[in-house]
Amino acid sequence: MRQVLVLNGPNLGRLGSREPDVYGAQTFDDLAALCREIGRELGLSVEVRQTDDEAELVSWIHEAADSRTPVVLNPAAFTHYSYALRDAIAQRTAPLVEVHISNPNAREEFRHTSVVAAVATGTIAGFGMRSYELALRAIADMDE
Ligand code: DQA
Repeated sequence: MRQVLVLNGPNLGRLGSREPDVYGAQTFDDLAALCREIGRELGLSVEVRQTDDEAELVSWIHEAADSRTPVVLNPAAFTHYSYALRDAIAQRTAPLVEVHISNPNAREEFRHTSVVAAVATGTIAGFGMRSYELALRAIADMDE
């Protein structure tokens, strides 16, 4: 079965209680369960992780590059300034889809810049947790 890593950056472990007007009422555990369920439907083995630590997220991107594993990545705030994450993603050997729950372009100015978008396969933003579902479907449809 094809493996897919669903990686999440800082503060996403607090979904459910974190700014529910922006991110909704579902928890991180709900998100992880949704991703695994969509994975089962698509014949993908989905592993979901979250960290608040930039170094740990970079090491997971290295791991995916070494094992040629596709990634769905919500870099959270790192999206907007982490050149370390960007340089890690540039080493990818399989598709990597950047996702966001909200639409950063419709929010504060500092969220309009993604330093990772140019090295991702593509970006899906603004569909709530369905952004992850759409990203998993895109990966399932790809040959790599
Ligand atoms: C986010 C958008 C980012 O701007 C923000 O820092 C997040 C979540 C999203 O999923 O909408 O933490 O990536």
